[in-house]
Parts: sequence; structure tokens; C-alpha cells
Amino acid sequence: MFLDDEFDGVPLVRIMGLKRLRRMTRRQRRASNAASAGGVVSKELRSSASASSESENTTKCSSDDETLKIIIAGAPASGKGTQCEAIRSKYGVVHLSTGDMLRAAVSEGTDVGRAAKDYMDAGKLVPDEVIIGVVKDRLSQPDCVSSGWLLDGFPRTPAQATALKSAGVSADCFLFLNVPDSLLIDRVVGRRTDPITGKIYHMTFSPPDDDEILGRLEHRSDDTEEKVVVRLEQFHSNVDAVRGSYEDIGAEIDGSLSPGEVGDLIDSVIEEKVAAKTAA
Ligand code: AP5
Ligand code: MG
Repeated sequence: MFLDDEFDGVPLVRIMGLKRLRRMTRRQRRASNAASAGGVVSKELRSSASASSESENTTKCSSDDETLKIIIAGAPASGKGTQCEAIRSKYGVVHLSTGDMLRAAVSEGTDVGRAAKDYMDAGKLVPDEVIIGVVKDRLSQPDCVSSGWLLDGFPRTPAQATALKSAGVSADCFLFLNVPDSLLIDRVVGRRTDPITGKIYHMTFSPPDDDEILGRLEHRSDDTEEKVVVRLEQFHSNVDAVRGSYEDIGAEIDGSLSPGEVGDLIDSVIEEKVAAKTAA
């Protein structure tokens, strides 16, 4: 079994998950080495290897180098959240959107939320010292350690990138969604979110079919033409420095294509990283 094997045209890694496939590949290699050294691998050995990998898959793993760690970046409304829904469900990583975390903190009235609210309302970045600690804490929690993570919207300043490096946090790939500013205003103004499922819609490009969902959609308070100008300024003044911190693992994706086409480009980058990681 190899990482790029497919079943019925679907990559095995999508069906089984990176960790499980990686363990099974290793066990298969070991079993095959044992077979060449001392005879044929017994059915019992194969089934015990498979049962053991099943149980390990449900056990918390403390070694983070077996998990997939992805950073996704791009301008406001470049499609980060939309693509994260698909990446999370395909690869089983924990999706951490700093925008969503901060909006939740604001609505719960926590200290972080109180510190962030005015900046977010103005379309400005919240201070580094407010967000860095929150992200570092979250990345060290068991679900991120055992399942890997997908960081959406962080780091977005040089200080945030440096803080991750100083904390020993590294990623397998840095996906950058490249979308011209001229497309972003329409995407921002037409965006709506389902407060129950968290699913992201667009009133023109991807409206919901269901009237009940349509009736409960929410419009983010920073999704106005006026605020997106400020958000874009903040983005452009930081993006080069942040991208520069990840040149070695960076992949630029054309985010102006349809969501499905963007997703296919992202998949090919991630699958290449998965294959390299498993072969290591
Ligand atoms: P955050 O929530 O992260 O906002 P953002 O970076 O401005 O990004 P968005 O969430 O607006 O866009 P997206 O790229 O996720 O696009 P989406 O998929 O939704 O941050 C909000 C605020 O929190 C910041 O302004 C700041 O105040 C604060 N903050 C957050 N992180 C921070 C940090 N690290 N440091 C400091 N402050 C921080 O898509 C948008 C729309 O386009 C949708 O309607 C979607 O349906 C549509 N769409 C998506 N893809 C396509 C496509 N390919 N074609 C056509 N339409 C598409
Ligand atoms: Mg988003």
C-alpha cells in the first residue's frame, strides 16, 4: 500500500486519514522486511497490525510530526473559510479560524473579546499580544496535537509568524490564495453565514437552496464596502513579510477560480505534502 494509492478513483489518504495510512504503510514495510528475512507474513500478523493501527488511530498521539499542519492565508474574502470546510472534512485536521475564535470571544464577552471588539468593528487587526497567546494555547490542546491543524487567518503579521517560530510551531505547507482586490468587494458584500452550521454562502455565487436556511443567514458586521477597504489596507501592509517567513513551504493558489477548481489545486499541494511526509 502506498500513499498515492487510490480506491475506486479516490485517494486512500482521503478515505483513511493521514495518520492511519502512514502507520499502516510503516507496518506493511516492517512486515514485508520480516517476510523477506524470515518467511511469509502470517495472516495473524497482518490482522494484528491492522487491529493495532485501528486502536492507535483512536488514541491520543503525543507526537505531532505525524499529523498534517497547514496554514492558509489570503486577503479578506479570498475564500479561506470556504476551502477550510473541504480541507477539514477530507483530511480530518482541526480548523482554527482566528476570525471565528475572536467573534466567539466577542459574543461571549470574554476578556479577549472585549480587547478585540473595537478593532474588529473598525476592520483593523487586533493587537498581536491579544491573539498570539490564544492561538498558542489552542494549538497545544489535545485535538490539535492528535489530529493536526489548519490555521486560517494566522499568522497575519510578522510578529505573529515570529511568535509561532519561537514557540517551535512549524507547518507542512503555507497555502496562499491569490485573488485580485477587484473581486474581493463583491465577495465580501454578498457573503452570508449560517449561524447553526457555520457554512459560508454567497447571495449571488452560492445561495442556499433551502428557504429555512436563507431566513436565518447572518451578515458579518465587518462585511461592508467601507470596512473592507480598511481590512485590505491591513492585509497589504503585512502580507509580504508573512509570506516571506514561509517561502520554503509556500504554495500560491489561484483563488480567483471557482471554489471547486481552487479546491482541486489545494488538494494536489496537500497530497504532495502528505506523500513526502509519509515517505520520510
Ligand atoms: P477573518 O474572519 O479571518 O476575516 P478575513 O481574513 O478578512 O477573511 P474572511 O473570513 O473575510 O474571508 P475568507 O477568506 O474566509 O473568505 P470566505 O471563504 O468566507 O478576520 C476578521 C477580523 O478578525 C479581522 O479583520 C481582525 O480584526 C480580526 N483577526 C482575525 N485574525 C487575526 C489575526 N491573526 N491578527 C489580528 N487580527 C485578527 O469567502 C468569502 C465569500 O466569497 C463567501 O461569500 C464565499 O461564498 C465566496 N467565495 C469563496 N470562494 C469563492 C470562489 N472561489 N469564487 C467565488 N466566490 C467565492
Ligand atoms: Mg474566513
